[in-house]
Amino acid sequence: MQEKEDCQCTGKEEIQESSIYLPEVATLLRKEKMTQFDSFFEFELKDRSLGHLPGQFAEISIPGIGEAPISISSPPSDVKTFEMVIRKVGSVTGAVHALEKGDSVGIRGPFGTSFPMDGLKGKNLLFITGGIGLVPARSAIKYALEHRKDYKNIWILFGCKDPDQRLFTKELAEWEKRADIDFYETVDRCDGCDWQGHVGVITTLLPKLEHIVDPFSTYAIVVGPPVMYKYVILGLRDMEFPDDHIIVSLERRMKCGVGKCGHCQMDNIYVCQDGPVFYYNDIKHLKEAI
Ligand SMILES: Cc1cc2nc3c(=O)[nH]c(=O)nc-3n(C[C@H](O)[C@H](O)[C@H](O)COP(=O)(O)OP(=O)(O)OC[C@H]3O[C@@H](n4cnc5c(N)ncnc54)[C@H](O)[C@@H]3O)c2cc1C
Ligand code: FES
Repeated sequence: MQEKEDCQCTGKEEIQESSIYLPEVATLLRKEKMTQFDSFFEFELKDRSLGHLPGQFAEISIPGIGEAPISISSPPSDVKTFEMVIRKVGSVTGAVHALEKGDSVGIRGPFGTSFPMDGLKGKNLLFITGGIGLVPARSAIKYALEHRKDYKNIWILFGCKDPDQRLFTKELAEWEKRADIDFYETVDRCDGCDWQGHVGVITTLLPKLEHIVDPFSTYAIVVGPPVMYKYVILGLRDMEFPDDHIIVSLERRMKCGVGKCGHCQMDNIYVCQDGPVFYYNDIKHLKEAI
């Protein structure tokens, strides 16, 4: 297993014991529609900052409806507030979408492991993000851009189904313009739309990097829908990335978020506590993982 201290891991030892089980009140400060089903939310906790690390998640609850794990999308430097992007798929996410500025939610967390941003200092970073996977990756990307001198080359790949599914479009345009990073974007399909960019699944971007990226000094951070992992990992292996240079964030059904209920269990691993961020090397033997 990868050394835990290299994983910057949980940060949960810093959260007060009470907040592990007891939701704290957070107020909705800002809400913006991003796509047909995805909206951006900015929250503020009443008595403390969330204190998360890139890649961690929090449980958001609506009284009388339920609770859902949602990734934190803002970087840790935003200490007063924290940001989430939530896809409306059911009861909790639907209820959060119905909130207005000034309304309250319950928050537990932050929970889970984080992207090892300290351990990756001095390395090249390759972010490969698909769809709503950009949400947790954005926290790490923004962290890396805020600490730009700590990292060597940074490549960011983002893909989504069609141009209407693009998230954080203003930030994508800024990344495109930056001279100190390389940003590549694609959409799976574009029938009759006015998209001028690359069309094809995200793995069709990898050949652009084949002779540029040195797999032995680069760490790939991969976050996307379940189907993406298998093909991206095959592509990275073709580029000769070692398995311990591939970092993934896995999404599993969760309830408690703190290793008590077993909903997220894969063999002897609790994704809510041992993950969601894993080195691929540590989970590749688990059939259910990818
Ligand atoms: C670590 C982690 C981070 C996540 N981050 C985000 C995020 O940043 N933004 C976001 O929009 N969503 C995120 N999710 C998914 C989110 O938790 C689920 O969409 C949510 O729990 C659905 O709750 P609901 O009550 O609205 O839906 P329900 O009414 O419970 O179910 C509606 C539909 O969603 C499906 N569903 C329920 N829970 C999950 C789940 N955990 N994964 C996949 N499908 C599910 C059900 O099968 C059903 O079809 C994350 C999940 C995990 C585990
Ligand atoms: S969600 Fe309960 S053990 Fe992981």
